[in-house]
Order: sequence, then structure tokens, then C-alpha cells
Amino acid sequence: MAHPSIVILTGAGISAESGLGTFRDEGGLWAQHRIEDVATPEGFARNPQLVVDFYNARRAQAAEAVPNAGHAALARLQAEHPGDVLLVTQNVDDLHEKAGSPDVLHMHGALNSALCGACEQRWPAPLEMHVGEACPQCDAPTARPDIVWFGEIPYQMERIEQALLNADIFAAIGTSGNVYPAAGFVQMAAHVGAKTVEMNLDPSETVALFEETRPGKASETVPEWVASILGS
Ligand code: APR
Repeated sequence: MAHPSIVILTGAGISAESGLGTFRDEGGLWAQHRIEDVATPEGFARNPQLVVDFYNARRAQAAEAVPNAGHAALARLQAEHPGDVLLVTQNVDDLHEKAGSPDVLHMHGALNSALCGACEQRWPAPLEMHVGEACPQCDAPTARPDIVWFGEIPYQMERIEQALLNADIFAAIGTSGNVYPAAGFVQMAAHVGAKTVEMNLDPSETVALFEETRPGKASETVPEWVASILGS
């Protein structure tokens, strides 16, 4: 096909070589913190300071992180591929943006965004958030990290599903395939006949659903894959 439409899903593995921890690898974030304490609305209600501290630490680390060749390759693809490219990330860091990617769809929210728990206003998050900060829109003391916690609805699902229905190629990069709805995107793409490819250090939970796998580090596999798409 002349200009295939491409949907890309990235996960924590693409940011691993930039020094940001993944969740489920050895010693990952979920080995250090209980999901129910730092990544659920109930955890935030129970101990907002613990949650605000958790995301402040991740925001500070992400602020220092530098994109790697995997992020750069995706920005190159978006710039040079004549067909549609939708970059969906489960990551909350801004390494895709730092690498030059336009229009990154953060389906699990973003560290650099703050959200009002009362009126749903969003604004750029300060490097350090505090419990009980006032919303700039409604003034309620309900500022929270703009992160989609377990039990909450990922962002822009209609837009993602529409893109998957029109996809000619679906690529999953650096994600373990443990968390839905993201882990189900490969099935939606395969259902409409898209070519599916996984680029991961270890086989994901859904590796069997992919037509093609390119095992290895994202900083190596992604530039190779992008070069194969762009023909150079
Ligand atoms: N290059 C490519 N893949 C890598 C690399 C690397 N350098 N390092 C690790 N990986 C792979 C691992 O093999 C693993 O399959 O990245 C994947 C990371 O998996 P997870 O830690 O589960 O992260 P992710 O899939 O992004 O988690 C999804 O779960 O906790 C929630 O909201 C959170 O967005 C997150 C979601």
C-alpha cells in the first residue's frame, strides 16, 4: 500500500534506557510500591501525601531524563512517513515530546499535567505538587496528579479505537501486555487485517497475538524498524 496508516503503542520499556524504571521488571516500581497505595483513587483518598510524593519523585526523575534512540526514531517516523501515524503512549513521562514527537496521546495521563478532582480542569503541573492545592478554575483544594489510576478510564479511547479500525500497521513497543485496554489493541488491529509487530526486551503476555516480533532493546529495534518502514 502507498502510505500505510500506523498506530504505535509504547510502554515503560521505551523509557528504560533513558533511566526511568519500568513497572514489572525485576526491582520495578511495583516491587517498590503497592499499586493500591499510589495508583488508585482509594489510595489517594487514604493518604494523598504518599501519592503526591510518589509522583513528585517520578516527575523530578523524568525532568532529568533524556530521550533515547527509540524515542528519536519514532519522532523521525512521524516527520517522514507520508501516511497517518498515531503515537499512543501508556507512559506519563515526556520523553516522546522531548525527542520531537508532535501530538503524543497519553492514554494514562502525564506527569506534567495537573487535574482538579472537582471540576476536571487541567493545567501544567509544577515540578512539585502539594496536597490540597487550589484549582485555578474552581478554587477547590482538590488538585491531583493528572494520572489515570487503576479503576479509572484511560483518555481518548474513542480516538484510539477509530485509529485502530483504520490501521494498516500496529506496533507495540516496550510494554508487557498486562494492562487493558492497551493490551487488547493488538487484537483490534489484527481483526481489521493490520500487520502487527512487537518490539520488546522480553516477550510480552500477548506476544502470541503479534504477526512479527523484534526482540531486543528499543534503542536498537525501533530505529531498525523505522528504517524498514521508511525504506532507508
Ligand atoms: N527495550 C524494550 N523493551 C524493554 C526494555 C528495553 N530497553 N526494558 C524493558 N522492556 C520491556 C519489558 O520486557 C516489559 O515487557 O518493557 C516492558 C515493561 O513492562 P511494564 O513494566 O509492565 O510496563 P508497561 O507495560 O508500560 O505497563 C503498563 O501498567 O502500571 C500500569 O499505568 C501503568 O502504564 C503502565 C501500565
